Amino acid sequence: MNPFLYNGRNLQAEKVPLEKLARKVGTPVYVYSSTALISNFQALTRALSGTPHLICYSVKANSNLALLKLLSRRGSGFDIVSGGELHRVQKAGGDPCKTVFSGVGKTEKEMAEALRAGILLFNVESGEELERLDQVSRKMARRAPFALRVNPDVDAKTHRHIATGLKKHKFGVPFEEAVSLYEKSRRMKGVIARGLDCHIGSQMTELAPIKDALRQMAELFNHLRARGFALSYLDVGGGLGIIYRKEKPPSMAEYSRAVRKAAVQTGATILLEPGRVLAGNAGILLTRVLYRKKTKGKTWVIVDAGTNDLLRPALYEAEHEIQPVYRRAGKPVLMDVVGPLCESSDVLAGNRKMMLPEQGDLLAIMSAGAYGMSMASNYNSRPRPAEVLVEGSRFRVIRKRESYGDLLRGES
Ligand code: LLP
Repeated sequence: MNPFLYNGRNLQAEKVPLEKLARKVGTPVYVYSSTALISNFQALTRALSGTPHLICYSVKANSNLALLKLLSRRGSGFDIVSGGELHRVQKAGGDPCKTVFSGVGKTEKEMAEALRAGILLFNVESGEELERLDQVSRKMARRAPFALRVNPDVDAKTHRHIATGLKKHKFGVPFEEAVSLYEKSRRMKGVIARGLDCHIGSQMTELAPIKDALRQMAELFNHLRARGFALSYLDVGGGLGIIYRKEKPPSMAEYSRAVRKAAVQTGATILLEPGRVLAGNAGILLTRVLYRKKTKGKTWVIVDAGTNDLLRPALYEAEHEIQPVYRRAGKPVLMDVVGPLCESSDVLAGNRKMMLPEQGDLLAIMSAGAYGMSMASNYNSRPRPAEVLVEGSRFRVIRKRESYGDLLRGES
């Protein structure tokens, strides 16, 4: 569902006029629709009905406590990649027994914290990590449930910075080494094999690589079972893409059909780690136009949000749709929408044909609910934006705008 629609000429978040929200909270501000987030979660759950599964929302996409609470209350599990994310999940009332721990570089401290919390599954990415997990958990007189993240050498057909499933990437253990590592784990008293895991990339818009990886995973899963490993979980990672502008990602139904096939082939409980597909289109970044200027053949619109607030365009050449909060009449012109940072790459939208906004107008940078605030930084000593959650005709600040005091915290 799209919760950001016009009422006449005015863009709203659900039933809240964004103009009103911006006047109250200021800009730049991230605005999330609780209805959209929940309905995305429920749509995926529905698409998977009949398939034994657990959705483990990938916390890195958007880790705001209020969003985690919305999901955990509806039964979601979580995919974490750090002790900090575990802390957030616990603070949000999330269930560690429904939480998987991914990532190539878990520290001993993080392993111990996750063991203490009673995590569902450690997704282990190397032989040395498995040995470390074994040591840590033996010291605590525990047995850590683990899955190996294998790298199926599949091209996810996405931007090179967010593809993870090829041999040249740092992620997972090579497919060929997986069996011998599982075999090795039999001699380790601190770990117990419970699953198999992969994640081949993010913002995937094609089904073929997903199917390819799932087919390989199902085969390996069955092979491991036949060797006597009591695996219960097939973790298929995240990665389903969304529409930013003109992409045509597989629908949740198509994606779920592919996943169901793997479930049927293996009898496994499927773990999913979606991030973007749940949160991406549930959020926007609202920003105000500071200045316009024309240089040789170019029109610039300078806004109060920068790529420190939304890094995606600068880092991945990502294109986010931009919509005016007040729709003006006139003829669209070609422009660059840029932020205030001292960086030439601080371009939120380049060569975009849009109606020229007036100074002081508000613009909504769309599809910013995932990997927006969670990747924001204080570069140029800019306090990070506030975050607001909308629910029908109500809204509340779920993270205060940072102050200058926040900027200096811990410094002397
Ligand atoms: N599981 C693992 C092991 C992951 O590494 C990721 C994302 C996910 C699940 C969730 O993937 P999703 O469903 O959101 O595609 N910052 C980039 C995306 C990086 C993704 C990193 N891993 C961006 O803004 O496009």
